[in-house]
Amino acid sequence: MTWWLFFIFFYSISVLLFHIYIRYFSAQRHNFNSKYFPVIIEPWYFPFLGPILSMLDMETSLKRWCTKYGHNFTLFLFGKYYTVITKSADLKKYYHSTEETLSMSRAAFLLLGSSYPESQYIVEYDVVQYLHSILNSNHLSKMISNTEMVMRDYFNNKNGQFWNENGDEVVIDLFDFMYRLIIRINSINFISSNIYTNDVDEVIEIFTRLNVEKDILSPIIERMKKYFGLKTKKDFAWKQWILLLMPEIQRALQMIENNIEPNDFDIIYENVKYVKEQMEKRGETFTPRLVAYFAYMSIVPAQLNTYTTAAYLILEWIHHQHDEIGQQMKNEIDHLSQCDQLTIDDLNSMEYIQACIYEVIRMHTDFLLSLRHAGEDILLSQEKFIPTGNFVVTPITGAQHLYTNPFDFQPERHLKPREEMKVDPYRALPFGRGRHSCVGERYAKMQIKILFLRLTKLCKLELMPQSNNYKTTINRKQFDGLSRPTKPVWIKISKRIL
Ligand code: HEM
Repeated sequence: MTWWLFFIFFYSISVLLFHIYIRYFSAQRHNFNSKYFPVIIEPWYFPFLGPILSMLDMETSLKRWCTKYGHNFTLFLFGKYYTVITKSADLKKYYHSTEETLSMSRAAFLLLGSSYPESQYIVEYDVVQYLHSILNSNHLSKMISNTEMVMRDYFNNKNGQFWNENGDEVVIDLFDFMYRLIIRINSINFISSNIYTNDVDEVIEIFTRLNVEKDILSPIIERMKKYFGLKTKKDFAWKQWILLLMPEIQRALQMIENNIEPNDFDIIYENVKYVKEQMEKRGETFTPRLVAYFAYMSIVPAQLNTYTTAAYLILEWIHHQHDEIGQQMKNEIDHLSQCDQLTIDDLNSMEYIQACIYEVIRMHTDFLLSLRHAGEDILLSQEKFIPTGNFVVTPITGAQHLYTNPFDFQPERHLKPREEMKVDPYRALPFGRGRHSCVGERYAKMQIKILFLRLTKLCKLELMPQSNNYKTTINRKQFDGLSRPTKPVWIKISKRIL
């Protein structure tokens, strides 16, 4: 009993001291008015942080905090200061600042570093620059035919692997199915066609074990394991990833040494060449680990939102099959599904399906946070500022106030004459804005369009009755990516007789 009293006494004193520090000593430095207390969510304070966060409704909380602290306020979370940018004029500054002023990679490294393998490369080597270099129009055309080829391989009516493995009619978990199908496509587009042909199942397995998506919110555990020098399951998976890529890396190295240019699209060759040049420029010795890192870090951002959007698009298709929206989708599919080989122009002409993609993203953007790290003091409006070293966030929410009937699926709102997303380009952001807008936007749209076109042509898709209520299971409080259902969404997929 005495021990308990002792413990409660010291705990209360620490909480009090902590409050005094935050309120009176830290206020000026970290940009908030000491009259008002910043929101403090500390693990030793609120041990059940997860459930507490899950109770937050982002848009309502923001409104409440803005009323209390004014625009652009600073929060203290997990021992770190986060300046939240809410004022439109400052959002423009946020989205267009240089990397030195507001850095996305530094923020990722400081906050999530340990959940990525080879996190030492995050700040040193720019994956975005690499992705820009490979996602040019030439490569995109090749990526379109690769994607078509994967779909043919998998769903060919005579000897498609999918039907061989599952029979002509099968019930699948839609989100898991899309996750795997998109890794298949990404493995040929971002790793190598040999790896796709021979080892795609292993790629899916290792990528799933590395699972950044799951670890992104628990970097503390990963950090602790690293701190104590403990090997994690992810360390073993990473070793396997490098081993899997090694023969292809060596093949590309030999080609470079012998001045042999690839005849065709050879993405691992591009990767090895890029890494070699970058390392030589810095006087460093080539390592295959960096090639493996680039291959992996190309797939990570290419995966999560793309498979989620593709799965929701299928659900909207099933839902609207017998109404005006479904008819408009069908018109576009019928027009193009006869083409044997789709081109960039064909895909660009799919304006209605593209509007459906934007609408799916809009409707499932609930709790996304865009994150940077301040490399210098930054002046904001209303004499506020961001001190060097603060994290800087801005929520990417559904911005429902901008839209007419925001809870209805209305692709037309993204088309002329409505174009509702143009009202405030810094709040309605399917693919981001400014310096860090999505480098994979064109690739993602082309991939989802092909998937949709081919799947709806080759398969009949029906929602199973046990998943009719899937909307009620969607977790709208995820920081990482679009909201996703927490339970499997069962779909019956049957072979169409063509
Ligand atoms: C439907 C699919 C996708 C959606 C909704 C999406 C959305 C976004 C958004 C909103 C941002 C801006 C984040 C911010 O400002 O903090 C972003 C950035 C980014 N996206 Fe995507 N994305 C998608 C697919 C892809 C794909 C396929 C790739 C890669 C091939 C990719 C690579 C990236 C990268 C590397 C960045 C950071 C860019 C930078 O730091 O300059 N994304 N994405």
